[in-house]
Amino acid sequence: MKILVTGGLGFIGSNFILKLLHDSDEYQIINVDAELYGSNIKNVSKIKDSSNYEFVKGNITNKRLMEELISKCDAVINFAAESFVDRSIADPNSFLVSNIRGTFTILDIITKQKKRLVQISTDEVFGSLKSGTANEKSALNPSSPYAATKAAAELLINSYSKTYNTDVIITRCTNNYGPRQYPEKLIPKTIILAKQNKKIPIYGKGTNIRDWIYVDDHCDGVLTAFLKGKSGESYNFSGNNEINNFVIVKKILELINKSEDLIEFVEDRPGHDFRYSMSSEKISKELGWKPKVNFEKGIQDTIKWYLDHEDHWKDSPSSIFNPTPWKNSKKI
Ligand SMILES: NC(=O)c1ccc[n+]([C@@H]2O[C@H](COP(=O)([O-])OP(=O)(O)OC[C@H]3O[C@@H](n4cnc5c(N)ncnc54)[C@H](O)[C@@H]3O)[C@@H](O)[C@H]2O)c1
Repeated sequence: MKILVTGGLGFIGSNFILKLLHDSDEYQIINVDAELYGSNIKNVSKIKDSSNYEFVKGNITNKRLMEELISKCDAVINFAAESFVDRSIADPNSFLVSNIRGTFTILDIITKQKKRLVQISTDEVFGSLKSGTANEKSALNPSSPYAATKAAAELLINSYSKTYNTDVIITRCTNNYGPRQYPEKLIPKTIILAKQNKKIPIYGKGTNIRDWIYVDDHCDGVLTAFLKGKSGESYNFSGNNEINNFVIVKKILELINKSEDLIEFVEDRPGHDFRYSMSSEKISKELGWKPKVNFEKGIQDTIKWYLDHEDHWKDSPSSIFNPTPWKNSKKI
C-alpha cells in the first residue's frame, strides 16, 4: 500500500513514518514536507535510502503537486500543520494557510480521486475544560488561533463527508512527547535548558493541565484508525495522564539531577487554556487501541534521547527559548 504522509519531517509525522517502515515492508511512503522551521531532515535519516521511502519537498497548498502525489498513492495521512500555539498568537496568517487552505487542497483532491484521508487533529479543538472529559460528540470550542484553524479544518472535512461522501477519518490526540520534537515545545525545551543550566520559563503559576501521551502510542492510534476506522467518524486518543506544567518540569529536573531553582515563572500566555481532557473510550471499545507507554518510562526515554542527540537540536535558533514567545515579532 502506498501512503502519502504530509509533514513527515516534523515531530509526529517522522515518528509515524519510522514506525511504519520499521514494523512492516508492506508500506511505501511518499513524504511531502515544505521544510518549514520546525522540520528536521535528520528526523528521517535512518530511512532516507530505503526503497520504500521517497521525500518530496513541497507545500500542501500546491494543488498541482498534491494532485500528482495523491494520484500515485492509495491514501493521505495529513500531519502537516503549523503547530505551535504561541506562534499562532504572534502570526496567525500562516496557520490559516497551512491548516485550513492546505487541508482543503488535499480534501478536494482526495474527493475527486476517491482516496482515503486521515486528518490529524488535536484535543485543543474542544477548548479548556474545568472539569469533565470531551468525547467525539463534544462541541468544538477552540480558544487559540491554532486550535481555531484545526477546528475549521475538521468542519470542512465533515462537510465533505456529508456532501460528497468523501472517505475521511479525523483523529484527535492530546499532548505528545518523545523523540524528534522541535525544542520550542515544553518538554524538549526544559530538557535542553536544564542541561545547559539555564532558566526554565513556566507560564503563570504552572497549574495548566495537559494530558501527555508518548508519540509511539499516538502513531499506533493513527495507524489503527486508518486501517480499521469507519469513514466519516472521528477518534480521540488520550494518554490517561493529566499533569500540570510545574509537575512535569520538576520531574524532568529531578531525573537529570538539576535544581528546582532553575524554574522561573513568567507572564502567562494570552488565552492560555487551563485544562484539556479527552476520553479514548470509543477507539478503545470499537478498534481495540490503548496507550501502552507508561509516563515514567516514556519521559526517561525522552530525556535520554535529547541528551544523546545533541546534533538534532544544537543549531536551533536561541530565539525559540525566549520566555514569552507570543510577544516576538513575526520572526520567532
Ligand atoms: N505535537 C502535539 O502534541 C500534537 C497533539 C495533537 C495533534 N497534533 C497535530 O499533529 C500534527 C503534527 O504535529 P507535530 O507536533 O509533528 O508538528 P511539527 O511542527 O513538528 O511538524 C509539522 C510539519 O509539517 C510541515 N508543514 C507545515 N505546514 C506545511 C505545509 N503547508 N506544507 C507542507 N508541509 C508543512 C512542517 O515543515 C513540519 O515538518 C499537526 O497536525 C498537529 O496539529 C500535534
